Amino acid sequence: MLPRNRAKLAFVSAVALVLIGSVGAAITVVRLSSSAAWVAHTYQVQLAVSNIEFILSEAARARLSYVASGDESYLQAFNSASDQTAANLRSIRQLTSDNPRQQELCSRLENLANRRLGVLGAAIELRKTGEVNDAKQAMFSRDNMAVSRDLENLMRQMEQEENMLLQQRSSRSKSLFVIFLLIVAGAFVTAVAFLWIHYHLLLEELGAREKAEASAHKLSARVLRLQDEERRRLSRELHDGLGQNLVAAKLALSNLANSNPDDSVVADCLKSIDESLAEARTISYLLHPPLLDDIGIASAARWYVEGFAKRSGIEVSTDIPDGPGRMPRATELALFRVLQESLTNIHRHANSSRAEVSLRMLKDRAVLRVRDHGKGLPIDMLEHFLHDGTHVGVGLAGMRERVAEQDGDFEIHSDETGTEIEVTMPFSAAGNAEETQAANTPTN
Ligand SMILES: Nc1ncnc2c1ncn2[C@@H]1O[C@H](COP(=O)(O)OP(=O)(O)OP(=O)(O)O)[C@@H](O)[C@H]1O
Ligand SMILES: [Mg+2]
Repeated sequence: MLPRNRAKLAFVSAVALVLIGSVGAAITVVRLSSSAAWVAHTYQVQLAVSNIEFILSEAARARLSYVASGDESYLQAFNSASDQTAANLRSIRQLTSDNPRQQELCSRLENLANRRLGVLGAAIELRKTGEVNDAKQAMFSRDNMAVSRDLENLMRQMEQEENMLLQQRSSRSKSLFVIFLLIVAGAFVTAVAFLWIHYHLLLEELGAREKAEASAHKLSARVLRLQDEERRRLSRELHDGLGQNLVAAKLALSNLANSNPDDSVVADCLKSIDESLAEARTISYLLHPPLLDDIGIASAARWYVEGFAKRSGIEVSTDIPDGPGRMPRATELALFRVLQESLTNIHRHANSSRAEVSLRMLKDRAVLRVRDHGKGLPIDMLEHFLHDGTHVGVGLAGMRERVAEQDGDFEIHSDETGTEIEVTMPFSAAGNAEETQAANTPTN
């Protein structure tokens, strides 16, 4: 599998595991909150059951007081206790509706509660008739005691049942919680491992890309160097070979012209040879200006700008004072090529009638600025070039490459009012001195 695909797979797996972990965590939280609700539910059932116990005791007290005093207000208390008992029974039935065992106990509870209320009610009815019958009342009291004991047993049973349910539920939710916790922790650890793998694969890919970029830079720098060497060789051949032959031909023809002053063919040939000589010299100079090697970038730049202005018809103002000294040859050549390409671009693309060139040589760096007042680069092209160096021709990319090779700084500013290219080239006087010394050392 390709490293890129492996990295993608590792990342997707990590994300999937994080998602699984999150779902697990969400489920655990829901489970925990529902187990808290079950605890509350158990307390509600137990509260309703003990309420019934309390209310029935109230009813029993009301019956005793009524039987003893005949005061009708106790009847009211008894009736209200009966109503409350019914309401609590309904509530218990509802709360335990999901549990058949508790529903069955609830039916028995209803029976016993109604039986107890029935016994108490019968005692009250007997007292209402005005009959004071202690023996009968004592019998009702015994019945009440017996039912009340049964009721108490049943209620304890219901409470125990509810406690047992609660224990079952909470132990189930506890083990679920532990399982989910393990799942979440496992997912988290595996996700971190996958992310770590992903990170390493990306690092590998980045390293490979950096290597490829470095070798591409090396290659383009080598191509530029070879191009310079080839231009220099061609320039010399044109100058020393073709140029010298043309000079010789011109001399011979001049002699011929002197002896035949009226021969128009000879005069025409001489004129053509003159033009060819001028052309060969210009091409030779453009390929590699000899001035650059002999008297330096300032003079070569002035000479080139002058020639360019003449040939193109573009008015170019120059600000190129003579610098404090010479720069290393590679730096001067790079600056000259930037100047050449910038002016060529102005001629070919800018549609500008004027331009400015300034070259400042400081102690440790030179700053070249070439500005035009033309239409500027298309915005998307400029953005692509600034972002990743693409979408332009060899010219701009080559300029930037040459400058970067000399550790210089290349900047381009362009809008609808024109384009400015600014190049800063650092150099060291020591490097220059070494170069001069090497050039002056005689070779055998
Ligand atoms: N001074 C300028 N004014 C306006 N547009 C420019 C200027 N310089 C460059 N451009 C635009 O940028 C593009 C890229 O320029 P670049 O020099 O890289 O390539 P090119 O000139 O088209 O071809 P070559 O590779 O021969 O130089 C040009 O095609 C042109 O559209
Ligand atoms: Mg160009």
